[in-house]
Amino acid sequence: MSEQPNTPLLEAIDLRKTYRMGSVDVPVLRGSSMKLLPGEWVAVLGSSGSGKSTLLHLLGGLDTPDRDGGEVLYKGKTISKLARGARNRYRNREVGLVFQFYHLLPELTVLENTLLPGLVGSGVRVDRERARELLSTFGLDHRLTHRPRELSGGERQRVAIARALLNQPEVLLADEPTGNLDEQTGSEILDLLKKEHQAGLSIVMVTHDRAIAEMADRVVVLHHGQVEQDQSFSIQ
Ligand SMILES: Nc1ncnc2c1ncn2[C@@H]1O[C@H](COP(=O)(O)OP(=O)(O)OP(=O)(O)O)[C@@H](O)[C@H]1O
Ligand SMILES: [Mg+2]
Repeated sequence: MSEQPNTPLLEAIDLRKTYRMGSVDVPVLRGSSMKLLPGEWVAVLGSSGSGKSTLLHLLGGLDTPDRDGGEVLYKGKTISKLARGARNRYRNREVGLVFQFYHLLPELTVLENTLLPGLVGSGVRVDRERARELLSTFGLDHRLTHRPRELSGGERQRVAIARALLNQPEVLLADEPTGNLDEQTGSEILDLLKKEHQAGLSIVMVTHDRAIAEMADRVVVLHHGQVEQDQSFSIQ
């Protein structure tokens, strides 16, 4: 790749996002900026309603900022200005998404859920071998043909992470990945993310738990849609 080592992998510049509720405009992001460097793990911390999920959705290209409401750059390119094919590729290949409530499809098996990102988008291979490998790494070999309802919360989240990693994304965007799990199960999920991070995955993880946030290289604190604090820890 030709980009400079310090070019952020992902960058939010002065993002503004307003939701319209009836006749009232509700500003949710009010000029938020943040960077994710290659190989970095950034935690986004903030109270409920501060705009964390909204920010993550904009970073992942699931939603767009207001008109003239800033931009999201991936490797220096504005994602909203990419041609449709490149934008889809970004969403399907370059980023992986993990949600608090897993978002697995109930009628599909564990293996089929994991393979989903390989079924959408052009030019993506259905890599059953990689899906099996990931599920095996995550201790789910014996669960391949089970449905999500037969799994525990921690197992469901491991499937969701396997699914997010199927296409070998550069960035994992995780919205409170342990928010719905007990402490022990949550820490197993965090260990798993730590291993992926050590293997080179860049991560943006939303949480409202400061202790969890401090596992990251850097913590960005959102407050009423603005970045109140951006604190670096020493890179391990
Ligand atoms: N689609 C939407 N339509 C209208 N308002 C929305 C929408 N999505 C989010 N909001 C509002 O935007 C604000 C920020 O929401 P967001 O989900 O980004 O917060 P959050 O920091 O992730 O909170 P939590 O910690 O509770 O998940 C909230 O007040 C929410 O009600
Ligand atoms: Mg949220």
